[in-house]
Amino acid sequence: MGKEPGLFDSALAQTLAYIHYLRESGEEFAPAAPKSEIPPAPGDDWTRLKNSVLGCVRCSELARTRKSVVFGSGNAKAKLMFIGEAPGFDEDQQGLPFVGKAGQLLTKIIEAMGLARQDVFIANVLKCRPPGNRNPLPEEIMNCKPYLLAQIGLIRPRVICALGNFAAQVLLQTDRTISQLRGKFYEFEGIKILPTYHPAYLLRNPADKKKVWEDMKLIMKELEA
Ligand code: URA
Repeated sequence: MGKEPGLFDSALAQTLAYIHYLRESGEEFAPAAPKSEIPPAPGDDWTRLKNSVLGCVRCSELARTRKSVVFGSGNAKAKLMFIGEAPGFDEDQQGLPFVGKAGQLLTKIIEAMGLARQDVFIANVLKCRPPGNRNPLPEEIMNCKPYLLAQIGLIRPRVICALGNFAAQVLLQTDRTISQLRGKFYEFEGIKILPTYHPAYLLRNPADKKKVWEDMKLIMKELEA
């Protein structure tokens, strides 16, 4: 397996430990405000995480310019997670991931796998839209990555499909390109990560849909095993 050791390991391990701490203490996830007499938010870890993400203002530009925080959608107990880069215009408008043109293609891919969007969990590295759909900044990735790792830690999917360079590089802590990374699994703590091309790239390069379908077949086989 091509797992690369690095920050991802300790970051996810630390996040899992943090989730454990939260579970024990009833603390808010990533508290933004100093401790007060206000009791911790009600609900389970997932609800607390979601509330923290929805109220996040770690990236001042994104918090100022967004219409919505796009937490992710689907089944919080999914065996399969898709992770993209960041919300675009349509996602920001609707507060849901992958609902624009690229999202419609992702939905078709999921359905071709015999699944529905509600069977999987769809998320992004960034939960807020970078203005003008610019690339995420390193600082924004650093701010938002703990949320993604917490989602992964709580869902514990069997397989993660990383869509495009950003998701693959952030998750695998590498600067190798998606063309170099795609087509095989990378394993971490029982979770298999399969990088493949982003659906927005496929809209511009439809000839590569065949390669993505090969990748999806690997995922389907893995989920059947
Ligand atoms: N592109 C992404 O990476 N994520 C979305 O949610 C939409 C488009």
